[in-house]
Amino acid sequence: MATETRTQGVTPELAAVLERARWAPSGDNTQPWRFRALGADEIEVLYRPSDALGVFNLDHFAGHLAMGALLESIDIAASMHGWRAVIATDHAGEGRFPIGFEAAGRAASPLLPFLQERATQRRPLSPKRLTGAQKRILEASVGAAFSVEWVEGAGAKARLGVLLARVDKVRLTIPETFAVHRDTVAWGARFSEDRIPDAAIAVDPLLLRVMRWAMQSWSRVHFLNRYLWGHGLPRVEMDLLPSLFCGAHALLVSQTPMSSVGDVIAGGRAMQRLWLTAASLGLQAQPEMAPVIFSRYAAGATAFTEVAEQRLYAAALSGRFADFFGAGNWTQATFLMRFGFGAPAQSRSLRKPLSDLWISDE
Ligand SMILES: Cc1cc2nc3c(=O)[nH]c(=O)nc-3n(C[C@H](O)[C@H](O)[C@H](O)COP(=O)(O)O)c2cc1C
Repeated sequence: MATETRTQGVTPELAAVLERARWAPSGDNTQPWRFRALGADEIEVLYRPSDALGVFNLDHFAGHLAMGALLESIDIAASMHGWRAVIATDHAGEGRFPIGFEAAGRAASPLLPFLQERATQRRPLSPKRLTGAQKRILEASVGAAFSVEWVEGAGAKARLGVLLARVDKVRLTIPETFAVHRDTVAWGARFSEDRIPDAAIAVDPLLLRVMRWAMQSWSRVHFLNRYLWGHGLPRVEMDLLPSLFCGAHALLVSQTPMSSVGDVIAGGRAMQRLWLTAASLGLQAQPEMAPVIFSRYAAGATAFTEVAEQRLYAAALSGRFADFFGAGNWTQATFLMRFGFGAPAQSRSLRKPLSDLWISDE
């Protein structure tokens, strides 16, 4: 690794930081970042959104959250050498983040061991509640600019599960998501460097085979949806059951409206601290971002689908989510996820090798 990265112009120590940091999560494992050496001890991280995320990243909200997660991961990884990452965000709007490192004599972050271990677990988890002490630790991890709203108890989790399943009807029945699902799932795989392996999706093996067959053409999906309630069982297995079988759902909320790219990046950094802290407490986690993303579209009147009926439905659902969380302002809702105790995922997304993420000349 050291020989290879030296040719890319950075020290082996800095390459080791990026080796760990590249495990940051991104929507559908699209890894919208590239690295460029500015000097042996200095890099620039570039935001390069993947077309694959399509309808889920129209306003770049998901992409910028992932960038925030990566920048937070770089700072945490830098602590392995006692360094602090000095990240310039003046060019965030252009998708450029120059980063230097200062020797801060800092102790290794307690979150460092979890950069690679943290993973998405989409299957049902234990319904055992989180303790008050665990929730306080998680709340503290997001910093003063954010807060966490908890959804706990069977009744509230069931109500949220029904809402999630309703949003998933939008997700599973509009043509705009077809190419995203076809291209971002690695069909027949347990691990994937650049996609989500299908074994990591929370459905039973028979349904997975039907989904795999259907995903070969939009007409098959449309036929199943129209005549055989094709979206029904997936929504029960992917939304309703996981929603009930978890310790709690958590909505990360910004204290102020997120109006700039930098604000969303800060949200991504808080999200990554929350997720890594959960991993350090032995909790499994799964993001549930479709309602946040579609609610943002509804609030901004973004025509995310050609199906007018589903646009109206999404707008109605966004109102219900706002009522549920008691906050009508989708400019502050940052990240929705569920936590619970249980076995780690047997199938997970891996990452592209560092060499594939380098830009040598631009
Ligand atoms: C901004 C963002 C949105 C995400 N949304 C979802 C989601 O709605 N549902 C889901 O199951 N996973 C979601 N994920 C999880 C990613 O699919 C996952 O992090 C990625 O595939 C890498 O896998 P890993 O987390 O197991 O390392 C999201 C991740 C990020 C960063």
